[in-house]
Amino acid sequence: MSVTIGTPLQSSAFKVLLLGSGELGKEVVISLQRLGVEVHAADRYDHAPAMQVAHYSHTLNMADPTELKQLIESVKPNLVIPEIEAIATQVLVELEQTGTHIIPSAKAVNLTMNREGIRRLAAEELGLPTSAYRFANTLESFRAACDDIGYPNFVKPVMSSSGKGQSRVKSFEEVDAAWEYAQTGGRVNQGTVIVESQIDFDFEITLLTVRSKHPETGEIETSYCDPIGHRQDSGDYVESWQPQIMTAVALEEAKRIAHKVTVALGGCGIFGVELFVKGDKVWFSEVSPRPHDTGLVTLASQFQSEFELHARAILGLPVNTARHSTAASAVIYAGVDDTNLSFSGLNLALANPNTNLRLFGKPEGFKRRRMGVATARAETTDQARELATQTAQLISVHQN
Ligand SMILES: Nc1ncnc2c1ncn2[C@@H]1O[C@H](COP(=O)(O)OP(=O)(O)O)[C@@H](O)[C@H]1O
Ligand SMILES: [Mg+2]
Repeated sequence: MSVTIGTPLQSSAFKVLLLGSGELGKEVVISLQRLGVEVHAADRYDHAPAMQVAHYSHTLNMADPTELKQLIESVKPNLVIPEIEAIATQVLVELEQTGTHIIPSAKAVNLTMNREGIRRLAAEELGLPTSAYRFANTLESFRAACDDIGYPNFVKPVMSSSGKGQSRVKSFEEVDAAWEYAQTGGRVNQGTVIVESQIDFDFEITLLTVRSKHPETGEIETSYCDPIGHRQDSGDYVESWQPQIMTAVALEEAKRIAHKVTVALGGCGIFGVELFVKGDKVWFSEVSPRPHDTGLVTLASQFQSEFELHARAILGLPVNTARHSTAASAVIYAGVDDTNLSFSGLNLALANPNTNLRLFGKPEGFKRRRMGVATARAETTDQARELATQTAQLISVHQN
């Protein structure tokens, strides 16, 4: 059955509820607004980026099952889009059974919010290549896991994102400190961590993978954006570029892995499949069942950005993943802990016709909080990276 879009704010409205209203959600909302969808944006604080472009905003603790259930039951959305991981996913599993449509599926959201769920699915059920890993939930078992995996290794709370509580452990001397740090960085259900062997990769990519419906048959098809290369600093993305050049063998393997994991997660929408690459060899790292931060570069490189692809795919509409340019993105940080910040230098940053900016409008900045992103197009990815970084540096942040 194909989608029918009504009129926002009237009884025929096609309603979408976004759970998590950050900068990625904001772009998804803009794409949905263009198609006449009524958008409800929720987050734990007022005036979050996506709320600023939605029809309705809801501020609540989405990790609280009762509050979350009440919200979904009062809005009665056609689609629920979980945009962040820190939500009471058991409510989504329960409501999906009684007919609520969760994007891409409650199973996908539930498995990917916990590193243990997605790692066991990828490595043990699907047989995909990953780093060696162990899980631990006591200091004692953690010490043993580290020794078992060897050094250096990566330690991450199973319920965490954006580098929170993560560390790279170089020797046994650092093990206890890594445990302490992991205990402070987890979201909910503190305790369990994953210890991963270090993969000695040439580069890492995000393979944006879209599951969308064929316009005539309605059958789900998989398409891929060109690989996105990126650089991470303490588990947080600093710059990304597209395309990342890789061997034909590695690209086929990357697609095989992405296909397998996204089919297992199910539903329609975009997935950010994170992979490590060395020569022809590819390892699965993790996957987001939603747009990926490194994919902000697609705002400059593709006919349909990852946000538009997601909006179309979740509505059951056809997609086009083609790229028109080589491009890069570079993050703009607050650099200070304060509210009511101002940004200047936009005139110079945008003087080059191949650059562009997004300022997210976050009500509060922290030193390492992402407040905006610069994008740039160029002949080569190296030139695009340089231009994007220069553009980001031209933006100054001021306190008022
Ligand atoms: N096993 C590993 N081997 C090498 N690098 C890793 C490994 N695990 C994580 N990293 C590095 O840390 C970054 C963040 O790890 P990731 O698991 O993606 O956490 P997050 O969910 O916070 O994005 C990766 O993009 C990669 O640069
Ligand atoms: Mg990651």
